Amino acid sequence: MAILKIAKLGHPVLVNKTKEINKLHDIDIKKIIYDMSETMIDANGIGLAAPQVHLNHRLFIYRNPDVEEEEEEKIKISVLINPLIEKISEETEDDWEGCLSIPGMSGLVRRFKRIKYSAIDLNGDKLSGEVEGIHARVLQHEFDHLNGILYTSRLADKRAFGFSEEIEKFWKKNDKEKSK
Ligand code: NI
Repeated sequence: MAILKIAKLGHPVLVNKTKEINKLHDIDIKKIIYDMSETMIDANGIGLAAPQVHLNHRLFIYRNPDVEEEEEEKIKISVLINPLIEKISEETEDDWEGCLSIPGMSGLVRRFKRIKYSAIDLNGDKLSGEVEGIHARVLQHEFDHLNGILYTSRLADKRAFGFSEEIEKFWKKNDKEKSK
């Protein structure tokens, strides 16, 4: 396994549309997934899309956010290859996001609350499901990467983007006070 180099904001690979994987056997899919998993864990991320490690494939991995915290010692990583995503309703939700390609920064991003997805796994088997909340958010964020879209173009409020430290100080604090 190997830790891969993560492309940072400004690198053109992050704004390119990726290509569908037609034959899983034509590429060493297992090695790609292993290396991406190691890279994501090393960087302490919750999701990683192929373009972020300079690969032009329609695939991403993510840590399943539905796994209970006590179980977290054994990290469950999911893989979606050639994913399709569709909103279930028009309902949206705003929440804070970060990205391994935009380190140290956070933004308030608007996402659909409920989505359904379909994809294939690393054995080529079809999988699909319906998810909501943080799970739906992670999938939308990673899916966007496959189309060259970063969360910075989906901000709920253009002012709500900046260094995580400042966001913590000036935005999240207000959120907490408001919710009291
Ligand atoms: Ni990202």
